[in-house]
Amino acid sequence: MKINDVKSQFPIFSKKINGKHLVYLDSSNSSQKPIKVINSLDNFYKNEFSNIGRSIHSLAVNATNKFEETRMSVKNFLNANSKEEIIFTKNATESINLVAHTFGQQNINKGDEIIISELEHHSNYVPWHYLRQTKGAVIKFAPIDENGDIIIGELKKLITSKTKIIAVTHLSNVTGTIVPIKEIVEIANKKNIPVLVDGCQSAPHIKIDVKDLNCDFYAISCHKVYGPTGVGILYAKKKWLERLPPYIGGGGMISEVGKEKITYAPLPEKYEAGTMPTAEVVAFNESIKFMEAVGIENIIKHEKELTNYALEKLKKINSINIIGNPKNKAGVISFTMKGIHPHDISTIVDEEGVAIRAGHHCCQVLHQKLNLTATARASIGVYNTKEDIDVLCDSIKKCRKVFELQ
Ligand SMILES: Cc1ncc(COP(=O)(O)O)c(C=O)c1O
Repeated sequence: MKINDVKSQFPIFSKKINGKHLVYLDSSNSSQKPIKVINSLDNFYKNEFSNIGRSIHSLAVNATNKFEETRMSVKNFLNANSKEEIIFTKNATESINLVAHTFGQQNINKGDEIIISELEHHSNYVPWHYLRQTKGAVIKFAPIDENGDIIIGELKKLITSKTKIIAVTHLSNVTGTIVPIKEIVEIANKKNIPVLVDGCQSAPHIKIDVKDLNCDFYAISCHKVYGPTGVGILYAKKKWLERLPPYIGGGGMISEVGKEKITYAPLPEKYEAGTMPTAEVVAFNESIKFMEAVGIENIIKHEKELTNYALEKLKKINSINIIGNPKNKAGVISFTMKGIHPHDISTIVDEEGVAIRAGHHCCQVLHQKLNLTATARASIGVYNTKEDIDVLCDSIKKCRKVFELQ
């Protein structure tokens, strides 16, 4: 599929917002959905609905097969070794909680150390904080420099004999920093420390190869990858999924249940308790096919061009301050404007049909470091165009007029 044809695949762009064409620049929050994903949800509920993994009637077998087809596609998408390493969850937040809880239960004792970074989303901090509260773990923050890059030398210095896990984002949802995960994993590997990667922002925008990264855990939210809400992915090396205890208990994750003894299902079901988001997982296969049809290399090239175009144009607007200037930056552009609160920016550009986000973006530690309480954020998706960026910049100029700034 050609980049120029992408936008037409998304029905929402034929709608008007406040009487204007929608310029959607909030994809880091959640992406819009291509028609094939929407049709898949519709078709599954109309024609194919059944719960999976339980009944053996035709509908149930078909639904189970389709669910497993998505698992296979995810395995290929991430280049995992086997489909047993792919666990479906509710979102990346649940994926990270799953690891923090099970890994913590088994491996964290009082005084043990967990390294995260100052870039982390609350979803990759709060689950580890629970271990600080319940187990007396110590959380250390790898610092960032003034550009928004993690200072790898400082991260190295934080590692001690008590370090039990390193958990870092692959791509910051505030600065757009692409974190050198491979380098961090190599450092951690030398000390036998597992690495969890929060891949929430990277999955829709860069090539992911978990074998090449050699990370132990990788967490994704499908709603950010042009897929439905309610589905997340946890990739984990098989050795961990075999070794760690189950997370949520209930139907579907057991092998045998007696009054005295319970045994658990083999992988991946051991980690998939209760009724799963069946239609949503099935529809996510269409999101992967969409990404493949466009081609990850084309997505990267297109988004890089747009990011550079946006940065150049935004920098020309008086009093705009772009947050971070990392070595390797994706299409996440947070900014402030002297004299205008980010919420006001968001409200004014919305009148022009432009959707951006304002706030701390669930990264309060990072905002504290930056001495800010909030930023405005424009984040790029594969459907965005240079015209979208032009409308964004014009609407930001309107903010200046509203506030009577020079
Ligand atoms: C970097 C990062 N990690 C984790 C999350 C949490 O995603 P979800 O709310 O889908 O679990 C987000 C969401 O914005 C994110 O940007």
